[in-house]
Amino acid sequence: MWLKSVYAKPVAHLLCLLPCGALLWAAFNGGLGANPVEKLTHETGIWTLRFLLLTLCMTPLRQWSGQAAWIRFRRMLGLYAFFYVSCHFSIWFIADHSLRFGDMIEDIVKRPYITLGFSAFLLLIPLAITSNQAMIRKLGRKWKSLHQLVYVIVLLGVLHFVWLVKADYLEPSIYAIIAMILLAHRLGPIKRLGVKSAPVARN
Ligand code: HEM
Repeated sequence: MWLKSVYAKPVAHLLCLLPCGALLWAAFNGGLGANPVEKLTHETGIWTLRFLLLTLCMTPLRQWSGQAAWIRFRRMLGLYAFFYVSCHFSIWFIADHSLRFGDMIEDIVKRPYITLGFSAFLLLIPLAITSNQAMIRKLGRKWKSLHQLVYVIVLLGVLHFVWLVKADYLEPSIYAIIAMILLAHRLGPIKRLGVKSAPVARN
């Protein structure tokens, strides 16, 4: 099956880098519109959320399709979420706060949606650091508990989005609903409908 092909991962990497490539292309060709910083913040924020949700899709896809190979992409997608949130954070820190640490802390404390986004970013750091095989072996059972933090991160990310929107709640609501479905799947009720688990394959 194509999921197990040697080309699957390189193709997946290319797809994951496409949004970044498109933004760089637009940046160097004057395609970011009247407010380039706003455009970059928005795009990197949206892609962070999309990659987080895609990461959460891998386990249900494995269960529903019976194809364990979906799990090969989970770590990669999680790391791309971390990559995009690092860009998102850096753009904000550089463009909005000119790398001034004090200003940054003040903004994090003052604006609740920034507090939520920043908390999600901080929580993602240990997950990114411990996502490799060596850490999986070293942490044993604790690894799974630690990586369950991704559910909290997704919730914080969605709340951050809902909070910052001022008028049109349609887009954040769609992401919130997808997140709720994926989280509900983890909590059990959907699992109990009798979907059989396929064995886990790492990488
Ligand atoms: C997992 C973490 C995060 C996720 C999922 C996320 C997601 C998003 C999304 C979806 C948007 C809206 C994009 C749009 O308007 O279309 C956004 C905007 C924004 N985010 Fe984040 N974000 C995260 C972390 C952060 C962090 C760490 C910061 C800074 C500390 C931050 C600061 C901002 C700012 C300033 C905006 C633009 C607000 C505005 O338009 O007024 N975010 N983010």
